[in-house]
Amino acid sequence: MNNQTFGIIKPDAVRAGNIGNIIQRINDSGFKIRALKLVHLTLKEAEGFYAVHRERPFFAGLTEFMSSAPCVVMVLEKEGAVKAWRDLMGATDPAGAEEGTLRKEFGDSVGENATHGSDSDENAAIEIAYFFSNLEIV
Ligand code: CMP
Repeated sequence: MNNQTFGIIKPDAVRAGNIGNIIQRINDSGFKIRALKLVHLTLKEAEGFYAVHRERPFFAGLTEFMSSAPCVVMVLEKEGAVKAWRDLMGATDPAGAEEGTLRKEFGDSVGENATHGSDSDENAAIEIAYFFSNLEIV
């Protein structure tokens, strides 16, 4: 489905009290929220979600961080959702992200960068299914 993507408000942004600010920005950008919940991932669940990065040097730090506190997982809908959500998030490293993007505003570092988004329609479908059953998507 190329009008849906998967997003996470990561533990750093949840800890900093930015859930509401980020959801406001999602609304203002014209996305419809089709599913949303707060989850506290186990290390195993974080490792499963980021399995494609298993061989990367940052994998241990990434999965430890993602399981360190709750995060918000979401199904977002808009035409061209994958690109639209990635554009709203900005570059992976907040230092290089454009002004006005979520990572520029709410991210601290490449590891603690406030939000995640799927990188393709194919991965969006996989990532949505990792967290949500069909019944949970309205
Ligand atoms: P995300 O979109 O969640 O997908 C993989 C994550 O790995 C990425 O955002 C970053 O937060 C994280 N990460 C940590 N260190 C690095 C790094 N050196 N290069 C790229 N991504 C990194």
